[in-house]
Amino acid sequence: MSRRRVAILISGRGSNMRALIEAAHASDYPADIALVVSSVAGAEGLAFARSAGVGTAVVDQARFRRENRDREAFDAELDTILRNAHIEFVCLAGFMRILSAAFVRKWEGRIINIHPSLLPAFRGLRPHAQALAAGVRVTGCTVHYVIPELDAGATIAQAEVPVMPGDTAETLSARILEAEHRLYPGALKQALNSCIC
Ligand code: GAR
Repeated sequence: MSRRRVAILISGRGSNMRALIEAAHASDYPADIALVVSSVAGAEGLAFARSAGVGTAVVDQARFRRENRDREAFDAELDTILRNAHIEFVCLAGFMRILSAAFVRKWEGRIINIHPSLLPAFRGLRPHAQALAAGVRVTGCTVHYVIPELDAGATIAQAEVPVMPGDTAETLSARILEAEHRLYPGALKQALNSCIC
């Protein structure tokens, strides 16, 4: 079995990244986590990636903002880093940026994301607060292909999570995060097994 060279894009804590790196320790897992790229210089997840022996890179969105460089410039640098590292497949894991349509088209079919709701419900920002405001009894998380339209690509896998009485966005988020860590490794495996990349 050939393992695909996978990059994980993060912006912060990186707990989903960690779940993927740990899953890839199994010799029969179809991904080699070859690179972690952060859009934030001090992102917590970078330290774990380095300690796990995974290569890291930063495309610092704050620097791009300071230098008045636009989204396309950011995405072009990101694309160059991925290609130089011979990356075949990309996982977004708490990557809190909208990628340009041009970037997404280059990677279409080879880029996936995890979102903390049962898509198509509660796309975009603050999905936990959206779920609480809607009064749903069940929400969850979704791994899906990334397309130019936000949180709208085909679903690969979903997990349901109950909303408990008295939940806040924080308690709900913590419960969903545990489900995310269980869901994402299997979903990546499934996506790679059906990828013609
Ligand atoms: C996760 O809950 C992930 O689903 C969410 O950010 C969190 C990142 O946590 N992503 C989004 O909301 C993307 N729209 P992590 O950095 O610990 O993996």
